Amino acid sequence: MVKNEEYDDKQDREAIVRMVSRSAGKILDVGTGDCCCMAQLLAKKGFRVTAIDRSRKNLKAARKEARREKVNSLIDFCRADAIRLPFPDKSFNVIMAFNTMHHIRKRAEAIKEMRRVCANRGKVIIADLTPRGRRVSGHKKDNKFLDSLETILNSYFPRVERIKNKYTATFVARPGGTR
Ligand SMILES: C[S@@+](CC[C@H](N)C(=O)[O-])C[C@H]1O[C@@H](n2cnc3c(N)ncnc32)[C@H](O)[C@@H]1O
Repeated sequence: MVKNEEYDDKQDREAIVRMVSRSAGKILDVGTGDCCCMAQLLAKKGFRVTAIDRSRKNLKAARKEARREKVNSLIDFCRADAIRLPFPDKSFNVIMAFNTMHHIRKRAEAIKEMRRVCANRGKVIIADLTPRGRRVSGHKKDNKFLDSLETILNSYFPRVERIKNKYTATFVARPGGTR
């Protein structure tokens, strides 16, 4: 165990940005949070992102942050619940959720919705805390969380890839087709 280890997911986020940049198309960030970090990183690369969160307070802070970072014209914020996305079927090419799933109780419903709005040749990218990430960021221990997330993803997608990073694991789920 590393003493005074600091949680730092910068590399994990950058790996996702590279992955998303290769696909482009319409992008949805689920549970964007008060910093809208993933939406911001992509907007800074010139991508347009739809960012949803169910918290009015977090969305207000995210809008402020996007203005401060001068990327507000590229992010469309929308207050919505991940289990009832207000978008048509197959309307996004990439759907991502970074450290959002551990906040959602009805995870299977949220993943079903992400699958619904994902284009046939699109992908759903879900990153969430590894046991080490949980410990270092002060979350309650749960060594089964990622496996249960993978089980849900496997029940909705024919192809699920798991990439293990230091603090987060990234799942890339595809409804079908090839990369
Ligand atoms: C840890 S924060 C987001 C982190 C952010 N995605 C990032 O990249 O750092 C989790 C966010 O998920 C949101 N959230 C939780 N449950 C949600 C739900 N059912 N639908 C939409 N957003 C939700 C919370 O309001 C919170 O802003």
